[in-house]
Amino acid sequence: MEKGKKNIRVISWEKQNMNLTYDKLQDLERRLGDSWYILDLDRFVANYNDFLAAFRKYYPNTQIAYSYKTNYTPLLGKTVNELGGYAEVVSEMEYLLAIDIGVQPENIIVNGPYKPYRALELYLESGSVVVLDSYQEYKDTIQIAKSNHGKPLRVGLRCNFPLSGYPNSRFGFDINNPKFYDIARELSLNNNIVLEGIHSHFPYRDVNTFYERVERMFEVYDNVSEFCDLKFIDMGSGLGGRTSDELVKLLGIKKVDYQDYADVVAHQFQKRFGAGEQAPQLIMEPGTALVADTMSYICKVIEIKKVGDSNIAITSGSKVNYHSRTSKLNMPIQVYSDGHQASDHLDSADISGYTCMEEDYIYRAYQGNLKIGDYIRVDNVGSYSIVFKPPFINPNVPIIAYSKGSYDVIKEAEDFEYVFQLYKRKTK
Ligand SMILES: Cc1ncc(COP(=O)(O)O)c(C=O)c1O
Repeated sequence: MEKGKKNIRVISWEKQNMNLTYDKLQDLERRLGDSWYILDLDRFVANYNDFLAAFRKYYPNTQIAYSYKTNYTPLLGKTVNELGGYAEVVSEMEYLLAIDIGVQPENIIVNGPYKPYRALELYLESGSVVVLDSYQEYKDTIQIAKSNHGKPLRVGLRCNFPLSGYPNSRFGFDINNPKFYDIARELSLNNNIVLEGIHSHFPYRDVNTFYERVERMFEVYDNVSEFCDLKFIDMGSGLGGRTSDELVKLLGIKKVDYQDYADVVAHQFQKRFGAGEQAPQLIMEPGTALVADTMSYICKVIEIKKVGDSNIAITSGSKVNYHSRTSKLNMPIQVYSDGHQASDHLDSADISGYTCMEEDYIYRAYQGNLKIGDYIRVDNVGSYSIVFKPPFINPNVPIIAYSKGSYDVIKEAEDFEYVFQLYKRKTK
């Protein structure tokens, strides 16, 4: 085996769907340990296709740039690449991942407010689209263009504007400052630079915000088009994921699907540009919308004890594996029990995590049957979960991917060596 390369185990067996049973979970535990994530790749592919179809129904020139920061599991980026989508990255680490898994530099959009000079140079000279976020980045780009004798450098501009009812964003250029158009003009006049597009992103999931977002971006497009032919308008994300009725109720949100966003965004693009040759590409950067419902987290009940009147169930899992430890959300859970053994009905049990933080509860006031050895499954943990997981108390657990009836280990369990390899440990 090559030095440094891990021997990735493959688990495969006949499986028609992800309808997990206690026996299947027990089988997986033998291979993986007592907690792990499952990525439903088939569901991710369906989400990708449904999302694109909803937008292309109105506006065929729509493209997806998958947001790596939301969940940078390499298999996801690879799958998007195979499906013809772009990568949306915000750091050199994410950029190098995209390159590593075979994404062509031309199909990478680099966003974000921090682009060190050397990294900026790498992105630009490789032929990726860099969405400039600040005046300093603009100046650095002009500098890089001076010494660049290759292909013209491809850039976009992140637009910042107020959205009614929401606080100001801290990203990008204030479009109400005349300097914004000065910069756009300077970029378009530079022989070594191509200003290809404009970009905006807000995290607000409310579909109605997109009327205003699109309107503002069309205004910017019209103004910039007076001196430059733009190839794309990137509307970012802030798009909600597919959610069960139970989760919608819990989060107190309105149920939305891709079609709701397409009905506003893509429909406006269709009305404004038609499908003609001159129609700019509409780029959407979904992360949450594609990945949130594709990942589940499994852990196991290792003890049930009484403290005063309360039942405390301790598990091999933790809220830090998928949420911030301070989150009070009782995410819906499913309990898998060995049907051959008697189970106690608990009127109320607090299902807790392995960390030493008092607030680490996976589920509070659980009512139902529960016993030691049961598995707990938490769904909808695909977005901002593994990427935010710190090696707090325990390293992170493996990830398996489910597709077409079989499971593959796509990330090994982190271990002692993984966490401590960069520390100086030995004293002389
Ligand atoms: C520029 C940009 N694009 C896309 C995303 C993905 O957002 P979401 O998780 O709402 O899909 C983010 C998230 O912060 C972002 O900053």
